Amino acid sequence: MKTKKIIYSLSLASILYIILVSFTSTPKNANYIGIQQKKWVAPESADKIMNPLKGDEKSLSVGKKLFKMQCAVCHGFKGKGDGVAGAGLSPKPANLTSEAVQSQTDGAIFWKIQQGNGPMPNYKSSLKEESRWSIINYIRTLK
Ligand code: HEC
Repeated sequence: MKTKKIIYSLSLASILYIILVSFTSTPKNANYIGIQQKKWVAPESADKIMNPLKGDEKSLSVGKKLFKMQCAVCHGFKGKGDGVAGAGLSPKPANLTSEAVQSQTDGAIFWKIQQGNGPMPNYKSSLKEESRWSIINYIRTLK
């Protein structure tokens, strides 16, 4: 009888302790959520990378073809971020037609395609520089 009482009060004490701790400590994932939502910003130096291609017909048709092959699966055929493979990703593929993307310099976008971030792959070795510039010229027509 006595041991039962001890066990009872011990478990009561530990339950109270757990409740107390969970109310007083700050949530452990608070910082993590902050990092997740941080905007992806290219370094200022990227703005200085100049686009060597003019957005002429040839560059645009090359860019369009490559975009459909490599990027549309996530970013959608019109670049709105609604590609079939993008739905389950976190963060979601960016809407490339948006002001937030279109207001960035060609250099910044070039840098991002080269680096990748999270689910966004990097195209440093799989796309030649010229191909990347063609894609950027095409993206400019999507706004
Ligand atoms: C596997 C899916 C996937 C593919 C394929 C993909 N992207 Fe992305 N892309 C993403 C995701 C997810 C993000 C958001 C990353 C972030 O915000 O951290 C992103 C972000 C970007 C951004 C940055 C937008 C901003 O907010 O500044 C650009 C530019 C971009 N992608 C261009 C491309 C181009 C060009 C291609 C093809 C060569 C491509 N992406 C292929 C998933 C993809």
